[in-house]
Amino acid sequence: MPETARRDVTVDVLLTPDHAARALRADAASGLRASPKWLAPKWFYDTRGSELFEEITRLPEYYPTRAEREILHTRSADIAAQTSAHTLVELGSGSSEKTRLLLDALHDHGTLRQFVPLDVSESALRDAISAIAEDYPELTVHGVVGDFTAHLDDLPGEAPRLVAFLGGTIGNLIPAERAVFYRSIRDVLEPGEYLLLGTDLVKSPDVLVPAYDDAAGVTAEFNRNVLRVLNRELGADFDVDAFTHVAVWNAEQEWIEMRLRAMREMRVRIPELDLVATFAKGEELGTEVSAKFRREVVETELAAAGFALQSWWTDSGDRFALSLARAH
Ligand code: SAH
Ligand code: AVI
Repeated sequence: MPETARRDVTVDVLLTPDHAARALRADAASGLRASPKWLAPKWFYDTRGSELFEEITRLPEYYPTRAEREILHTRSADIAAQTSAHTLVELGSGSSEKTRLLLDALHDHGTLRQFVPLDVSESALRDAISAIAEDYPELTVHGVVGDFTAHLDDLPGEAPRLVAFLGGTIGNLIPAERAVFYRSIRDVLEPGEYLLLGTDLVKSPDVLVPAYDDAAGVTAEFNRNVLRVLNRELGADFDVDAFTHVAVWNAEQEWIEMRLRAMREMRVRIPELDLVATFAKGEELGTEVSAKFRREVVETELAAAGFALQSWWTDSGDRFALSLARAH
């Protein structure tokens, strides 16, 4: 059934194209003037970027999606029993593919009424909502096009709520951003509501680096896609193929860093910013960190924001963890 034909499917656009364009201009203006240059990872996710991420999740080297799905497969019934949630909110929901395991479990538990996916990628959100609305005809679906670092205040949905933040996307925030983010989720929840958090775990760089530098080059295309976004949205003239994909393990910070390295000296015009960005040969533009976690770090950071860790589950290979935390 098309989304518009159902009265119980709505989409709020909190991040309008105009608002997103202004935010991109501000981020690019500061990031491309900084040293070293950087861009926030949320700008990967235009329609093509969201498709490339889905392709990444199917790569043999990219284990996090499969590991998290395994945990959800074995633990969703327990999660439903512990939370008895009426509303499942999902932040950075993407395709919401794995989330179906939670929807099924909450439905079987008899408490599920509403699903509230939120994502910056309008195309990914609308595709996910159409598929879910079709497969869960009794569910009220209230999608939000929004930024989870800015738009949590107005989240719809009746209590008790379970807020899911899956995929390890928390690792794409640096520690200071994580502290603000956890606190902002805690601020919108009532005591006794829950956060379900997916975190990738610290492991050997022999496993981590290929997961972010796959043999087929899909992650490289995903990384370079951000330059295509800047070319389209800001009228920039990045020669996309003149940048190589770099993925390195930072052992001190315990995160993967993705960068784009200029293969030659370049002057890039960005008319919308009234800026010419110069790149030396070999200069790198930082595009993403993907932090890997240990249980103590997750537990401590959640506690600092007002959450008590209630359950910690890992997959059979101890690669990925799912934490269920209760707001107190
Ligand atoms: N949760 C899904 C998708 C992970 S990919 C999974 O586990 O497979 C990360 C998702 O977060 C993308 O869909 C991207 O569009 C979204 N995203 C990234 N930054 C965001 C932000 N600041 N606010 C909202 N969504 C964001
Ligand atoms: C969305 N996020 C958790 C992914 C990650 O693993 O950090 C994004 C990604 N970057 C490269 N590959 C996948």
